[in-house]
Amino acid sequence: MKPTVVILAAGLGTRMKSGLVKALHPLAGRPLIQYVLRAATETDPEKIVLVLGRQADKVRSALGDFRVETVIQREQLGTGHAVQQAAESIAASAGPVMILCADTPLLTGSTLKAVIDHHRKSRAAVTLLTARMENPFGYGRVVRSKIGVQRIVEEKDTTAAQKKIHEVNAGIYCFDQKFLLSALGVLGKNNAQDEYYLTDAIALARKRKLVIAALPCIDDDEVMGVNSRYDLSVAEAVLRDRLNRAWMMEGVTMLSPRSIFIGDGCTVYPGSRIVDSVIGNNVTVKDYCVIEESTVADGAAVGPFAHLRPKSVIGEKAKIGNFVEVKKSTFGERSKASHLSYIGDATIGKDVNIGAGVITCNYDGYDKYQTVIKDNVFVGSDVQLVAPVTIGRDAIVAAGATITKDVPADALAISRVPQVHREGFASKRKIIKGKKIEKR
Ligand code: UD1
Ligand code: CA
Repeated sequence: MKPTVVILAAGLGTRMKSGLVKALHPLAGRPLIQYVLRAATETDPEKIVLVLGRQADKVRSALGDFRVETVIQREQLGTGHAVQQAAESIAASAGPVMILCADTPLLTGSTLKAVIDHHRKSRAAVTLLTARMENPFGYGRVVRSKIGVQRIVEEKDTTAAQKKIHEVNAGIYCFDQKFLLSALGVLGKNNAQDEYYLTDAIALARKRKLVIAALPCIDDDEVMGVNSRYDLSVAEAVLRDRLNRAWMMEGVTMLSPRSIFIGDGCTVYPGSRIVDSVIGNNVTVKDYCVIEESTVADGAAVGPFAHLRPKSVIGEKAKIGNFVEVKKSTFGERSKASHLSYIGDATIGKDVNIGAGVITCNYDGYDKYQTVIKDNVFVGSDVQLVAPVTIGRDAIVAAGATITKDVPADALAISRVPQVHREGFASKRKIIKGKKIEKR
C-alpha cells in the first residue's frame, strides 16, 4: 500500500527571527517547503497532507505544482499536536504514514524510500531515521539500550549524560497507521517545553513492546534541520555543491565551483568554462563558451563559441549567439545578438535586435565609452556604434552604418555613400586592361 505523507509546517520558526514563516524562506531560489515536497513526491504517496499554521494562504500559493491536502493547526502546541490535526486524513487511508518536517530541505527521495522499505521489512510500529552529528546540540537524542531504541529525549529535556549522545532523531518517521492513531490519542505534555512531542510515540511503542526500527542516514547532511538564517546559508552551500558536482560529473569544467550558481533545468554543453557566475533557471549554454563573472538570467541562451567577459548581465530569454563577445554590458529581456558581434560597455534595452557583425567602438586608445541602446531598437548588420552614443527607443539603424551621433527615438539612421552605377563599366575595363597587356 502506498504511504500517506504528513509534512509538518505549522511551527512558528521563531529562531528565524523573521516576519516570513519559515516554510517560505527562499533557498536557492525556491521556498523552503518545496524541497521536502519534492522528496515526498518521489515516494509515490497515496497523498500528501500539509499541516499549516500562520500565513497558510501564503504558503498554499507557494506550493508550485505540488498537489497536497492542507490542515490547519491553530495553536502551535508541538509536533505531536500538529500530527493530531491530520488524524482524520491519516485515518482515511490505510498505508504506512510517513511524517516529515518542512525544514529539512536536503532530504532526498531515495532516503525516504529507504525508510519506507526498512519499515516494511522490519514490520515495525515505527521506523525512525537517525544521523550521527558531530555537534548534536538542538536535536532530539536517540536513547538506546541493549535491545534497541528506548526513546527520544529533546535537547531541553536531556540530562548531562544524554547531551553527549551523538545519534540524533532526524524528525523523519514511518509509522504503522493504527499505532500512530492510537499514540496520538495518548500523547501528554509533561516536558520542559510544555508541548505535545511526537517523539514520545517512540517511548510508547517501547512500553507496548512493539518493534521500533531505526535507519541511520547514509549522508548526515540530509537530515540537517533549518532553524536559523545561518542554517539556511549552510543548506544553500550544500545544495549548490550537489548541483555543481552533478554538472562536473557530466563533464562541465568549473574552476572555482564554490562561486558558481547554476539554476534548475539548465543545459550546459561540453567545452564551456564558467567562472564566478550565476546561471538562472532553464538557461542553455551551448558548446565552447567562456563565461566569467557574469549573470545569465532565466531562459536565456548563450553560444556556441560565445564569450561573456566580466560584469555582463544577460536578461531573461535573451540570446547571445555564436562568436559574440560581450564585456561589461547589460542585455535586456528577449534581446538578441545572434552572430559575430562585439558588445562592450553597453546598456541594451528589451526586445533589441543586434544584427550580425555589429561592433561597439568603445575605445579610442585612451578611454572607454558607453553605448546605450533603448528598448525595441533594430540594429542592422555590420554597424559600428562609435561610443559614446545613444540609440533612441524603436529606432532602426540601417545595415552598414557608422553611427557617431545619437539617434532619436523612432528614427531611421542611415550612413552610407549613395550607391551609383556606371553602365557598361566592366566590359570597357576588360578592353583597357587587355590593351595594356598587349603593349608589354
Ligand atoms: C524536532 C524533533 C527532534 C528532532 C528535530 C529534527 C520533536 C519534539 N522534536 O525538533 O527530536 O531532532 O526535529 O530536525 O518532534 N511544527 C508544527 N507545529 C508545532 C511545532 C512544530 O507544525 O506546533 C513543525 C515545524 O514547522 C517544523 C517541525 O514541526 O517543520 C519540527 O519543529 P521544530 O520546532 O523545528 O522542532 P525541533 O526543535 O527542530
Ligand atoms: Ca527543526
